[in-house]
Amino acid sequence: MGRKNRNVNKFAQRKREKKEQERNPKEKPAGDTRKHYEDIVRENAAFEEYYKTQKVCPEEEWPAFLSALKENLPTTFRITGSKCEADALMNIVKSKYFSELLNVRLQVEGKEEGEEIKPFNLPWYPGGLAWQLRLSRMDIRRNETLYRLHNFLVAETAAGGVSRQETVSMIPPVVLDVKPHHKVLDMCAAPGSKTAQLIEFLHAEEDKMPTGFVMANDVDNSRCYMLVHQAKRLNSPCILITNHDSAVMPSITVTDEQNPGSTKQLKFDRILCDVPCSGDATLRKNPDIWLKWSTGNGNNLHGIQYRVLRRGCELLALGGRLVYSTCSFNPIENEAVVHRLLQDAGESVKLVDVTDMLPGLKHHKGMTYWKPASKDMVFYENFEEVPEKWQTVVRPQMFPPKPEDLPKYNLDRCIRILPHHQDTGGFFVAVFEKVSPLPWEKDQKETTEVAEKPTEEKKEPPKKRRRLGGYKEDPFVFFSGDTEDVFPSIKEYYDLNAEFDSKCLLTRCYVGKKKNIYLVSPLVKDVVQKNEANIKIINTGVKTFVRCDNKNMMCPFRLSQEGLASIVPFVGAKRRVRILKEDLILVLQNDNPSKPPELHRFTEHTQQLVKDLATGSCILEFQDTESSLQLTLVGWRGVHSLRAYTATSDTVHYLRLLGADFSKYDVNKFKKDAPENEDESEAKPEAEAMEVTEPSAEQNGSKEGEVQSTSS
Ligand SMILES: C[S@@+](CC[C@H](N)C(=O)[O-])C[C@H]1O[C@@H](n2cnc3c(N)ncnc32)[C@H](O)[C@@H]1O
Repeated sequence: MGRKNRNVNKFAQRKREKKEQERNPKEKPAGDTRKHYEDIVRENAAFEEYYKTQKVCPEEEWPAFLSALKENLPTTFRITGSKCEADALMNIVKSKYFSELLNVRLQVEGKEEGEEIKPFNLPWYPGGLAWQLRLSRMDIRRNETLYRLHNFLVAETAAGGVSRQETVSMIPPVVLDVKPHHKVLDMCAAPGSKTAQLIEFLHAEEDKMPTGFVMANDVDNSRCYMLVHQAKRLNSPCILITNHDSAVMPSITVTDEQNPGSTKQLKFDRILCDVPCSGDATLRKNPDIWLKWSTGNGNNLHGIQYRVLRRGCELLALGGRLVYSTCSFNPIENEAVVHRLLQDAGESVKLVDVTDMLPGLKHHKGMTYWKPASKDMVFYENFEEVPEKWQTVVRPQMFPPKPEDLPKYNLDRCIRILPHHQDTGGFFVAVFEKVSPLPWEKDQKETTEVAEKPTEEKKEPPKKRRRLGGYKEDPFVFFSGDTEDVFPSIKEYYDLNAEFDSKCLLTRCYVGKKKNIYLVSPLVKDVVQKNEANIKIINTGVKTFVRCDNKNMMCPFRLSQEGLASIVPFVGAKRRVRILKEDLILVLQNDNPSKPPELHRFTEHTQQLVKDLATGSCILEFQDTESSLQLTLVGWRGVHSLRAYTATSDTVHYLRLLGADFSKYDVNKFKKDAPENEDESEAKPEAEAMEVTEPSAEQNGSKEGEVQSTSS
């Protein structure tokens, strides 16, 4: 989908360099001047002086604060996916992988006997789905006793069953309180770990397409493709990825539901403003910050952080909620930005106390006093003290409120998390609610009721524009309706019911054979159609149908696993197979795509179901009789065979959930003859390549060469 972006090659390059370095450990990759993390001296006198002066923590906590900062981060992860899959995976994690931790002891300084490693369930994470282990990623990777746990984390991250995310980074989406009907904007979204959570919360009501959507934006074009990668894992038709400077994010136009002939400006119910920051609270994860830390970083970012927050407040609906967050300790990037906004916004925006949404989370309240400093480490009580040469850097708006004004702002409602509180990175979160229009919005009309020009269903395609500093995206071409050339055959073959809106399907080309067909929600479609000319849309839509010209299938499109959950409610009984556990295991354990299991190997039950099923793409549905586990997979009914249409990572995930044998994928890389283990797949766009092959000629009972298939 879309154009390949050059950054993908950067990832590939790094991967090649890493492999090369493993082969020749003495040689550094060309041009790499970075220090190895373990060689970095974790000290910086200016950092210590700055934060001691700011009183970022009580004096008695300082040694604990500093020593926690010098340690590697513990491993944390969340279980994701549908409720029943998440429940099943959680049981497996607890019973199988956590029990392996009993065999490992943690060496603690000053103690002779190693300590037991008890996994810690984050009490404030909804559904108890998040875990923290007292082991760094390196500890897990290097310990043979834990190779299964390591394999589990790598494989489930690839399959989307697990998301490895730092504890504190999980907080902003939780306190944003996203519901399925919310229109959500993630202003600075890449690489997208928080976007993923926002989408998970949006889809909280399973089996129902949310009426809201998530617009994930980032100014960096190549980082937008990290968001595309994240979105692909989540299979949501309710996400739109855009590429703008969010400080000047254009307004979005949508159809006015009260008056469908008109349009209005969209205001978002929820906005995440996870701004670019100095990142000094991520020192545990990024030790190289010890080498380059300076007060200048925070001062330089204050302006853009404020402008992004201010634009966020403008785009926020009345009664809506906005979360401002950074991974910085610096009050100049945190409370000073919040205070500046509250000063400008007057009574229209207020800080909300969300501590009741975070039970058990240790934190400090927001600071109410701080001292801006210039790069030469001189601290100032007020702007009048700032020498002229620093006045463009240390700005008047960076100073704290006067003591008598403090009650107006409630800065103590901000949340500060320090590394020693619960062995995490540091973080800052402030939650705003908009109670009335901003002072400068008062004269503007809430809704711009513009009479919509009647549009023809099929417009002449606009010429594609080349974008400066970015990539030309393929167009978003929506189906005109049920008469769209390929639709009647899809509708007939999959027995789609009348509720399915074919106008929500789209392709990424105007001319030529349709290849992949994507699905979006009605609201996302409206946003795309009304704004395509003004906003840079990088990606939207979940791949639902894939061209598969195969003489054994009456329809030229097969189903795609990515879009299956969205289309399933509309598919009729004639393309569904209620498969038994042993049969599902049989198809999943087959790893030779050109030799799928023949029908006679299945139970009589499944053979009977498949007997009258026309060959081609179908849905395999499994309902466990002993638990609430339900699985829905894309299958293929060949002339003499039945197979599942899953990527390897998904296959392992399903076999794990079914309690079946997947040992051939669970390799102990410490054993001499083990095949070289793939790199960890987290945040690596190139790892998304599907290992799915089209049904072969043999499998469909036709002679080699007769199948004309198009790869996905
Ligand atoms: C702290 S990171 C966001 C992390 C992300 N929310 C997550 O959880 O994965 C900040 C992001 O802001 C982006 N950014 C920087 N300036 C921006 C701007 N003016 N508008 C939009 N995005 C911006 C950067 O490219 C970067 O990806």
